Amino acid sequence: MEDQKEKGEISRVAVTGAAGFIGSHTCEGLIKAGKTVIGIDNLSSGKLSNLKGIAEIKRFSFRQADICHKDVMQTTLNDFQPDAVIHLAALVSVPIAESNPEENYRINVLGTKSVAQASIKASAKRIVFASSAAVYGNSDQLPLSEASPTEPINHYGKAKLEAEDMLLSLQNQHRITSTCLRFFNVYGTRQDPSSPYSGVISIFADHCKTGRPVTVYGNGKQTRDFISIRDITRAIINSATNPALPGGSYNLCTGQGNTLLELLNILKEIHPDMPPPIFKEARGGDIKHSLGNPSKARKMLGFEIDTNFSEGITALQNHQ
Ligand code: UD1
Repeated sequence: MEDQKEKGEISRVAVTGAAGFIGSHTCEGLIKAGKTVIGIDNLSSGKLSNLKGIAEIKRFSFRQADICHKDVMQTTLNDFQPDAVIHLAALVSVPIAESNPEENYRINVLGTKSVAQASIKASAKRIVFASSAAVYGNSDQLPLSEASPTEPINHYGKAKLEAEDMLLSLQNQHRITSTCLRFFNVYGTRQDPSSPYSGVISIFADHCKTGRPVTVYGNGKQTRDFISIRDITRAIINSATNPALPGGSYNLCTGQGNTLLELLNILKEIHPDMPPPIFKEARGGDIKHSLGNPSKARKMLGFEIDTNFSEGITALQNHQ
């Protein structure tokens, strides 16, 4: 193990938030890539069933632990000796973060600090952090690039930005590479559709599956930069396991905006009998358009989009 570490090879990876939507796909991808993986999750929202595809594999282990428990995190990472840590555990709901800012700060800033410090002390070489397009706030200068102003408008976005700043400054003080990936609107299998604040695609897909009409808030012409979990997972794994990649903040997006009406058209082709949507007033505080520029990630991380929107939605529906 020491020899490999000296060569900079990344073979042991710890993943926080492992039992969640993005975490479980990431663990599966790492196992497929031949890595030895420890998944860490407190199971507050993640489900062990998300990991059932890899639970029996010897190179995979699971530890139920809370990122905010510094001692537990330290012992877990000291025992495992990761080359890289992928930190996905978070309070992920913007509305919940808004109604409970202390909890948001505790988990999304202090929890990230706890993971970062434990990673450094355990001599990890790389840390990859799940950041968010929410760091940009409500800019109308689209597409958003990493040089765009970061002016978050909610507690969630502010916490993600503070965590990014902390990780990037630790990178300068220690021998660790910090990569902060700003996710746009991620969709894919295992995204929980049960909350009204779940991603629109998982809600619509679930309604179509069960023959219930979807509700469109506004006129359906709002756009989002929807990105498939398959593309997100590849970027996360590459950022963690390629020792040559530089740290920094990167947009993970497609550079393509799609309207909800386009989404409904694709779903209609898959489910010709779906009931017509119900249109309601736009949600308060809803942004009209969100679009990212993926050029920096493409250039520096070699990140390419494999999944076109229509194929991604069709694959999601066929899976369910
Ligand atoms: C994201 C967050 C949201 C937060 C917002 C502002 C997610 C899943 N959502 O919303 O919590 O408040 O950023 O920072 O991360 N829509 C419908 N019908 C539905 C559900 C959604 O029409 O049943 C619409 C929404 O009003 C919105 C669009 O679909 O216009 C996309 O919604 P969503 O998937 O929640 O993403 P964001 O709006 O980007």
